[in-house]
Amino acid sequence: LTAAAMALTLTVSATAVSAACDDGEIVIKFSHVTNTDRHPKGIAASLLQGRVNTEMDGKACMEVFPNSTLYNDDQVLEALLQGDVQMAAPSLSKFEQFTKVFRIFDLPFMFNDINAVDAFQNSETGQAMKESMVRRGLLGLQFWHNGVTQISANKPLISPEDAAGLKFRVQPSEVLKANMEALGASPQPMAFSEVYGALQTGVVDGQENTWSNIYGQKFFEVQDGITETNHGVIDYLVVTNVDWWEGLDADVRDQLATILQEVTEQRNAESFQVNEEAKEAIIAAGGTVRKLTPEQRQAWVDAMKPVWNQFIDDVGQENIDAAQAINA
Ligand code: LMR
Repeated sequence: LTAAAMALTLTVSATAVSAACDDGEIVIKFSHVTNTDRHPKGIAASLLQGRVNTEMDGKACMEVFPNSTLYNDDQVLEALLQGDVQMAAPSLSKFEQFTKVFRIFDLPFMFNDINAVDAFQNSETGQAMKESMVRRGLLGLQFWHNGVTQISANKPLISPEDAAGLKFRVQPSEVLKANMEALGASPQPMAFSEVYGALQTGVVDGQENTWSNIYGQKFFEVQDGITETNHGVIDYLVVTNVDWWEGLDADVRDQLATILQEVTEQRNAESFQVNEEAKEAIIAAGGTVRKLTPEQRQAWVDAMKPVWNQFIDDVGQENIDAAQAINA
């Protein structure tokens, strides 16, 4: 951002916050990168904002900044540590600078579906992951679901060989890079807000994401089609600054934690449906969705699953075993 753009951003956000917050209320700025409708995270953040502002009126006030209007995911964790925002929900692939424990979620074909992801997150191991970055100043409060990922490009992708030689935008995760390399493709880490333009101008040929993100960002408009691989997971950690959180009065913290937990349970139960509706909306808008036969999908599994071997030390064989036991 130029200095002028930065000043404008600060003015706009200051205005937005002062409009919604009364004197004496604790201001909770929540920054995220997706759209607000037909999106698991967008809907959850809006619901959280509404409940905090109603039920904690006079004590706390939440202001949500969606669509990367305040920060990209590669900036928001630093902003949290600086105290410029108090909550964010980056995908689990965006914590590489802080911890490797979330790498298990990026390993291809690790979880059968979002219910398996949910069960793993709610296990003792999963819950402990929320505290894996406390020493670095970040505390995970809840996991929020998006869903399983699909792959798209500027040409039809039926077999994994079709992806070879293409450039794919990936989130900044070593596992996601390795997945693309296993396909003979070239991974290009890039901020979410830049993907549409990069696909449109041919800076990259393809991308991987959930139905709700492919719909919300209109990626289908600038891709040949989307192949239903269900190969990965995009899930989120609602994260806060340890010092800020611990500095809250206990009654405020407890009320906020309770509201957040209720919103999490309510919206996580709907995430699958939200993605299904986004898929239907893509088709209704003229996007192409390609289904794979079981044999065709197995070829993607065979091509990508060897990546697990590269990351066993980071994620732990016992955690892989636990995830597979949940699938069974
Ligand atoms: C992405 O960068 O593709 C996603 O993590 C965006 C999001 O927040 O769903």
